[in-house]
Amino acid sequence: MRRAAAFLVLLLCLYWTRAQGESGGVTGNDITQTEVQSEILGVKATSDQTNITPDIWAELKELRDMAIKHSVELWKLEQENTVLETRMNASENEVEELKRQNADRPKVAFSLGLTDDGRIGPFNTDITLKFSKVFTNFGQAYSPTTGLFTAPVRGVYYFSFTMVDTRYNVWSYVYLYHNNKRVSWNENYNVEYGRNIFSNSLVLQLEKGDVVYMVLPASSSVFDDTYNRTTFNGFLLFPL
Ligand SMILES: *[C@@H]1O[C@H](CO)[C@@H](O)[C@H](O)[C@H]1NC(C)=O
Ligand SMILES: *[C@@H]1O[C@H](CO)[C@@H](O)[C@H](O)[C@H]1NC(C)=O
Repeated sequence: MRRAAAFLVLLLCLYWTRAQGESGGVTGNDITQTEVQSEILGVKATSDQTNITPDIWAELKELRDMAIKHSVELWKLEQENTVLETRMNASENEVEELKRQNADRPKVAFSLGLTDDGRIGPFNTDITLKFSKVFTNFGQAYSPTTGLFTAPVRGVYYFSFTMVDTRYNVWSYVYLYHNNKRVSWNENYNVEYGRNIFSNSLVLQLEKGDVVYMVLPASSSVFDDTYNRTTFNGFLLFPL
């Protein structure tokens, strides 16, 4: 750029000198246009200077036009570069924002087994099942002590369970509760000796602090042992 600018200044000087010469402003022993050119180009003035002059001027003009054209192209490239840089900066900012959001996003997931101790129930009243075997409990949102899952954030959550009962010729039941409201009633009748297995799953919208838990109704029983047959699982699908 600096070179181009210096070159343009030189060209302007030449024009000025020529203009002076043409208008008769510079006469007599002043430097002639040809002399200037000769000096710049290192050409020794000859007797037929007049023949060389137009060619050199045409060439200088061409060079000037080229310099201008290149300057314009350079300017355009710089503009394009700025646009690209702006876009790149925006993308980088977006990535940073997403990274931050992801890091801030609560990690909530649990998978539990009921017990190693065999059959639980039947009881005279409904009881909250306390799943004592914790396979995973990201976010510690499930409490094995109370049997409650407590939503750490407002969001959409997925829950599933599988229940096993070993009694037969009886109905087996299990409920899933959201706060004090039952949202799922599950039952199965075991006609003969063997495992009575049933399962279900739900997607629930929870407010922060809402609880979800499994209830064993009065007169029903559930079975689990070291085989991990009766499980309760859940995770945060996405916060709201
Ligand atoms: C892009 O980001 C860099 C570093 O933060 C900054 O120096 C530059 O000015 C930004 N460019 C544009 C075009 O916003
Ligand atoms: C039940 O879960 C425990 C704890 O993860 C595991 O060690 C055990 O092998 C599981 N039982 C069976 C029969 O898979």
